[in-house]
Amino acid sequence: MTDLSTSNPTLVQIALQERSYAISIGAGLLGQAQTYADVPAAATALIVTNTTVAPLYEAQLRQALVGRYKQVHTVTLPDGEAFKDWTTLNTIFDALLGQGADRKTVLFALGGGVVGDMTGFAAASYMRGVPFVQVPTTLLAQVDSSVGGKTAINHPLGKNMIGAFYQPRLVVCDLATLQTLPPRELSAGLAEVIKYGPIADMVFFDWIEANIDALMARDPAALAHAVQRSCEIKAEVVGQDERESGLRAVLNFGHTFGHAIEAGLGFGVWLHGEAVGCGMVMAAQLSERLGLVDSAFVARLTALIARAGLPTRAPVIDAQDNEGHYLAHMRLDKKAEGGDIKFVVIPSPGQAAVQGAPDAMVREVINACCAA
Ligand code: NAD
Ligand code: GLY
Repeated sequence: MTDLSTSNPTLVQIALQERSYAISIGAGLLGQAQTYADVPAAATALIVTNTTVAPLYEAQLRQALVGRYKQVHTVTLPDGEAFKDWTTLNTIFDALLGQGADRKTVLFALGGGVVGDMTGFAAASYMRGVPFVQVPTTLLAQVDSSVGGKTAINHPLGKNMIGAFYQPRLVVCDLATLQTLPPRELSAGLAEVIKYGPIADMVFFDWIEANIDALMARDPAALAHAVQRSCEIKAEVVGQDERESGLRAVLNFGHTFGHAIEAGLGFGVWLHGEAVGCGMVMAAQLSERLGLVDSAFVARLTALIARAGLPTRAPVIDAQDNEGHYLAHMRLDKKAEGGDIKFVVIPSPGQAAVQGAPDAMVREVINACCAA
């Protein structure tokens, strides 16, 4: 189990040769100067955060950085998935250029996955690449988005369509920040925690089932274990397939349907984690129809997702042609090849694979999941 004291953070390593880095997990880490001791020194640091997170944690992070950087600037973005776009991204470049940031300037992403994905993309492209550190403050970001180097913004036609693979120098998971998360966001993060069970580790799935009430109650030890085990699984996958040439796609379990829900409803209507939770139910039902898993597994996964406070019924995204709209969005998924949609399915609990499915079968799943 994770040591909860600040002085002894738990470290999970991402092994990627010269791009290797640590995920540091513990309570109270983000305001400690020592946490950042191995991050490159530079004249300037830029904290990128948003209007919700800044009043909660920006001062703590700033205080930890002022001894190491001559200038610590902050850019505060509007909050929300709807702002994960070119216009908002450009405000990060405005801040960097306006403050004369050089190519050694270090960016610190302080916030959830939206801030992390945008800061990472800004770091990947400013002066062709500057160092950045992830300081994730949502459960979802601590267990998934801050780890592994996927950075992106949305396009109105598709989720995370414009971005880069670009690894941070350090990830700081301060478990204390999870205590201020709105309940809906805690549930959204639990979707990505649950994801790791069916795709990689059913012992972990058993543990989540046994501890879901403790997780929902934000028990610090339960959250610490969930973050650590999730990061270990993600580290193992990313270490084998950094740029998703194969294996890494399994981390997208539930995301093909989920991204269609997010884009179909308009970004920000359902939270990413909510869409992934419901998307996992849909992907599990597809796995059952493909003859891969039995109905007992689908029922078990669905029940856990519901206990995590997540929706298990899919939304109607178009009143006239709902299935057609789902399919159209899914054809834009990054896993699609030549318009053929690829799904992450569960051949047996604890293992995942990527494969296609007949449109008629996918339509049946959409119909079944959208039915009242
Ligand atoms: P988010 O970044 O929108 O954060 C959720 C909400 O919580 C926001 O309102 C935020 O301001 C607020 N918040 C953040 N920390 C808080 C705290 N400690 N206390 C109170 N409020 C806090 O959403 P998210 O769920 O963190 O991330 C979702 C995004 O992550 C999506 O854009 C998704 O595409 C992306 N994502 C990326 C990857 C990846 O590998 N890069 C993986 C999964 C998801
Ligand atoms: N969240 C999916 C991935 O990092 O690949």
